[in-house]
Amino acid sequence: MYSKVFLYYFSGTGNAKRVTEWISENVKTAGIPIEVTNIENCKKVEIEKTEGKKLIGIISPTHGFNVPPLVLYFIFKFPRVKNADFFMANTRAGMKLSKLFLPGLSGLAQILPALVFFLKGFSVKGLQPVDLPSNWISIHPGLKQKVVTSMFERIKMKIDKFSGKMLQGKRSYVALYSLPFDLALIPISIGYFFMGRFMLSKTFVATSKCTSCGLCVKQCPVQALEIKNNRPYWSFDCESCMRCMNNCPSKAIETPHLFITLVWIVLLNLPWMILTWVFEKYGRCNCAILWYEELIYNALQITFMFFFAWGTYYLLYKFMRFKFVDIIVRYSSFTNYKFWRRYKAPKNN
Ligand SMILES: Cc1cc2nc3c(=O)[nH]c(=O)nc-3n(C[C@H](O)[C@H](O)[C@H](O)COP(=O)(O)O)c2cc1C
Repeated sequence: MYSKVFLYYFSGTGNAKRVTEWISENVKTAGIPIEVTNIENCKKVEIEKTEGKKLIGIISPTHGFNVPPLVLYFIFKFPRVKNADFFMANTRAGMKLSKLFLPGLSGLAQILPALVFFLKGFSVKGLQPVDLPSNWISIHPGLKQKVVTSMFERIKMKIDKFSGKMLQGKRSYVALYSLPFDLALIPISIGYFFMGRFMLSKTFVATSKCTSCGLCVKQCPVQALEIKNNRPYWSFDCESCMRCMNNCPSKAIETPHLFITLVWIVLLNLPWMILTWVFEKYGRCNCAILWYEELIYNALQITFMFFFAWGTYYLLYKFMRFKFVDIIVRYSSFTNYKFWRRYKAPKNN
């Protein structure tokens, strides 16, 4: 059916990489030539002009109900290819409650790449959500090894079935059952792209356990970290893929939960308090806000949020040099405790 298969993947903690490996094995077994490219190392996509039909697959995690920005930019830059089909597989935050496997939520992570490739002239053959363990351990503990293994075993069968269909040129749109939910999540995915991800980039900190080995800096897919004064510092470029935190050999990278809670209490209250104060001073009532006042208020609040997140994070980073701050941050971070665990996709399954 296909003269060659091209797989492009990005993976923060290994889930999407494992899925790519499974699909590659199936392509090789089918005797079809294959090229696998890691998106984070790919400067330019070049697809040779050969006879026959090509199959292009993108495998990516879901971040903020969308593909991560790194993948999104890659998809937009992807060249038009004649006589080519396309499929998308997005790994999501699967969970397990007792015996029940719970799916993640894709939002735009399938619809948007499918639409972009469709507009570029590709025939969209498959959309496959892949529910593997959630790696977002800033907000929940890493799953137990037993649960992780059972999720991988279950998903491997689904991927074998899906890739079998793709290689035979059949269609498979498993994802479409959740289309109403995915469409409803679009406002959140837009908010995540323009705001949320920048806020999240300031939720990592290295404690005194850090040995300045530089692994986090070296492994960062978007070069968002640099070592300043012997400790890594996260810039707004960070995409929160969780690789640094989960791979740190000293487990020195934490999400400072107490600090974040305090920052958010101020963030959510301070702009409103200032506005109320201004209205009271000038004898206006809150209920009669004019549309342009609301617009100005929202613009000011967003600007304030960026500066506040950046400023407080910078101060935290500076103050972490003091032992007592380091201790407070460490012990008020859930990620510091053993029961919270780290997450990395298992190597052999
Ligand atoms: C910052 C962040 C945002 C995430 N957003 C979503 C999401 O919107 N929906 C979802 O189902 N999973 C979400 N996840 C979970 C990951 O998509 C999931 O764990 C994925 O399998 C990780 O793949 P990887 O190991 O290849 O990076 C998110 C994870 C992170 C770290």
